[in-house]
Amino acid sequence: MASIKDVAAEAGVSVATVSRVLNDHPSVSADARTRVLTAVEALGYRPNAVARSLRTDQTHALGLVISDVLNPYFTELARSVEEEARALGYSVIIGNADERPDLQDHHVRTLLDRRIDGLLVSPTDGGSPLMLEAARAGTPMVFVDRWIPGVDVPVIRTDGRAAVRDLVAHLHGLGHRRLAIIAGPAATTTGQERVGAFREALRAYGIELPDSYIGQGDFQAESGRRVTEEFLRLPEPPEVVFAADNLMTLGALDAIRARGMRVPHDIALAAFDDVPWFVHTDPPITAIAQPTGELGRAAVRALVDRIEGRPSTSVTLPARLVVRRSCGEPSQSRRSTP
Ligand code: HPA
Repeated sequence: MASIKDVAAEAGVSVATVSRVLNDHPSVSADARTRVLTAVEALGYRPNAVARSLRTDQTHALGLVISDVLNPYFTELARSVEEEARALGYSVIIGNADERPDLQDHHVRTLLDRRIDGLLVSPTDGGSPLMLEAARAGTPMVFVDRWIPGVDVPVIRTDGRAAVRDLVAHLHGLGHRRLAIIAGPAATTTGQERVGAFREALRAYGIELPDSYIGQGDFQAESGRRVTEEFLRLPEPPEVVFAADNLMTLGALDAIRARGMRVPHDIALAAFDDVPWFVHTDPPITAIAQPTGELGRAAVRALVDRIEGRPSTSVTLPARLVVRRSCGEPSQSRRSTP
């Protein structure tokens, strides 16, 4: 592999001149710049990123720690994070916590040891000591989607409350009165917020959410299956099951079908998060869609602002209801918003 010395020899200039050209330094003649760039091209020279990091104390790498890489929501989030980071000149190293605080700490430690310039986190729980310590110590950090209250870090998230109100209005309009939710873990902000928003929206219609209609899930399909089976065994089962993420929706669908029941004739089903396969089920699933791509891009911009010394603030984006046919809608599908 060609070294910077080889480039200098080929171009007939000093190593310092090559370095100035590669770093876009203005004090280089046009002739020297052309010779250097021609030599770089001819020799296939690649600058040593590690050596540069040692010199500049910057790696131009961001860490992204997400709670579940197998959840399509987080996969889409990771994709947009990587895209925006690339556009801004950064690479991304992903750590999958698999909803385990110990793995989350492992990834945070590994990423900090690698001297990433900043950390994007969708936290797995509220109590990960290393992450909190890093935030307090001033490591550039941004929370995305999930967040930890009381930690002074910008939060880039979705507020789904208005969309949940739209969903409840839609369900009420279809005549449903017994509505149940498969909740995510109470230790996550997203788990708490979705139940809170649902309860609040029902109250506006004078409907209480009884404990028996709140099933405790863990954002995984199996819990959606288990909770839905519990709902279906109740003396008065719900008319609607609202699953607080896409994987629990899948589990709910399995449980409903295993009972030989049909959506929406026997029970309605709605989801938080919209994922591509929701249009391929029969019937297609009514869902609350987050602007996931925009969330990831906004999170990267906030983090890079912090890294590069510009002010960065929290951003809250709205979700929207996408009406399909899983709640007993008239047979032609329509979208509530374009
Ligand atoms: N968990 C699972 N799915 C999600 C979440 C979450 O925290 N946020 C958005 N979709």
